[in-house]
Amino acid sequence: MTEARKIVIAKRFEGEPKVTDFRVETERLPALQDGQMLCETRYISVDPYQRVAAIRLPVGSTMVGSQLSRIVESRAPGYAAGQYVVGFWGWRDRTVVTLADTGSDILPPMLVPDYGDLPMSLSLGVFGMTGATAYFGLLDICDPKPGETLVVSGAAGAVGSIVGQIARIKGCKVIGIAGSDAKVNWLKEELGFDEAINYKTSDVEKAVAAAAPSGVDAYFDNVGGALSQAVLSNMRPRGRVCLCGSISTYNQESVPTAPVAGTQVQDRQLRMEGIKMGSRWGRRDGAFAEMAQWIREGKLKYRETVTDGFEKTPQAFVGLMKGENFGKAVVKV
Ligand SMILES: NC(=O)c1ccc[n+]([C@@H]2O[C@H](COP(=O)([O-])OP(=O)(O)OC[C@H]3O[C@@H](n4cnc5c(N)ncnc54)[C@H](OP(=O)(O)O)[C@@H]3O)[C@@H](O)[C@H]2O)c1
Repeated sequence: MTEARKIVIAKRFEGEPKVTDFRVETERLPALQDGQMLCETRYISVDPYQRVAAIRLPVGSTMVGSQLSRIVESRAPGYAAGQYVVGFWGWRDRTVVTLADTGSDILPPMLVPDYGDLPMSLSLGVFGMTGATAYFGLLDICDPKPGETLVVSGAAGAVGSIVGQIARIKGCKVIGIAGSDAKVNWLKEELGFDEAINYKTSDVEKAVAAAAPSGVDAYFDNVGGALSQAVLSNMRPRGRVCLCGSISTYNQESVPTAPVAGTQVQDRQLRMEGIKMGSRWGRRDGAFAEMAQWIREGKLKYRETVTDGFEKTPQAFVGLMKGENFGKAVVKV
């Protein structure tokens, strides 16, 4: 009989999630039936959306999330033992997956191709949900053109760091906004951002105005709230805004009271559009192939913040929400 560990929500989050809001439980897994496979987790992805998704779950539920797993045994057609797969099975170290149960709102298990010299964990980052979001949100919605100025918030994170670098590849001047001097230095020194702003120590509206004296053509918004308001105040007429996330509001218990963006959007005739990665997931292969090419050409860099040990997954998640990660945050199981 195979045993599995899972991390469950022990207490409803209040404000910032805490390590004590979780506990590890053990369970016995059933023998495989037709249409099922046994998957052993290698890496778990920790992501900001989990903060929002988890509050809809009752206490005692397994924490939501995606993982990269090795198929140990399979009675599921199309999936063979030894293959690697990404699935949304929560914070678990072993899972019996029933293909029919994966549901229409959840992506079916994605078989991971051989990335050659590149690490497989990138299937949770650049070659996964965050990479696809960065690629499609930037290219489809921000529509960057050579010589334009683009601002990205959450710039040193999984999505933001890729957005800024692709915008550079497309010939834009790129300004990143992040939460520490170490991140600002990384963006400028390692990733080639033209400018970077520490939002915790700067007046963002003035700093963006100084970095973009002719205004901002496109804004990729990972953060929302007052910070984004300060960027919108610097937009050029007919600028484009990709609304990707609003992490600055995820720990708030009530509806945030940031100033309303209506005046800036109307007056400057801005075009704002949200990105929901799932709706573009079918086009991922082309995006991942192009980003792999850029990585091999040295034009696109990736960074992972790896936490070691399944039981440390809550620490990794809490750290992500506090801004401890550079690039993609993952847990090595
Ligand atoms: N629309 C979609 O389909 C989609 C898909 C993936 C992600 N997203 C969204 O994209 C955003 C980035 O996700 P990610 O996976 O790349 O995470 P990430 O940026 O790697 O990690 C989260 C980062 O948010 C920053 N942060 C935390 N609290 C903040 C606050 N109050 N104000 C400003 N920044 C804060 C922290 O960096 P600092 O040190 O800079 O504060 C932290 O490192 C999130 O809003 C997420 O929900 C959307």
